[in-house]
Amino acid sequence: MESITRMKIMATTSDRSPPHAAPVAIAALALLMVLTACGGDSAGSSGAASEASTEEVAEAAPVEFTVDLAQLPEGVTVEMVMEGRELFNGGGICYTCHTVAATGGPLAPDLTDDVWLNVDGEYESIIELIKTGVAQPVEHAGAMLPRAGMPLTDEQVEKLAAYSYMLSRTSG
Ligand code: HEC
Repeated sequence: MESITRMKIMATTSDRSPPHAAPVAIAALALLMVLTACGGDSAGSSGAASEASTEEVAEAAPVEFTVDLAQLPEGVTVEMVMEGRELFNGGGICYTCHTVAATGGPLAPDLTDDVWLNVDGEYESIIELIKTGVAQPVEHAGAMLPRAGMPLTDEQVEKLAAYSYMLSRTSG
């Protein structure tokens, strides 16, 4: 029953998120239309169609991201996670070191795994880390500035923390 509470986060092109179910429904609909148009090699069962829709979303979005609603920390909404994701790959400039996929590289660690170098991985600890940055990284060469050196409000930091938190708690 957990799986029913999962949902795909779509490419973050709009700044105002519609109600949760809408993007998923639209994706499924678009895919059905594609399948119909191609007349293609669909296996024909509705099960196959919904698997295919997952792949389709993965291709359309730069990085597929699944939010497990059961894992949201208290007080955190899907909207916060989605907005955090936009900030991560936009004004928060986090992607410049952590990469768009958030899997890290020479400059910054992977945020999608469950390994935490500087914090315990709880939501509050991630908020603190983003506020203070990492002056002396454990494994990486450069430092992370407080709020990545950007003029992020506390509210934006919480959204970024919500996204960072969920990154390591998603099946991807
Ligand atoms: C200049 C590169 C850089 C930028 C930009 C950056 N980070 Fe980091 N980040 C790092 C480094 C370096 C570490 C610490 C790695 C270490 O200890 O080895 C880190 C650590 C983290 C951690 C803790 C990971 C852990 O395992 O302890 C989180 C969460 C995080 N960053 C989130 C963010 C967010 C959110 C942003 C955008 C607001 C951001 N980072 C921007 C370089 C960066």
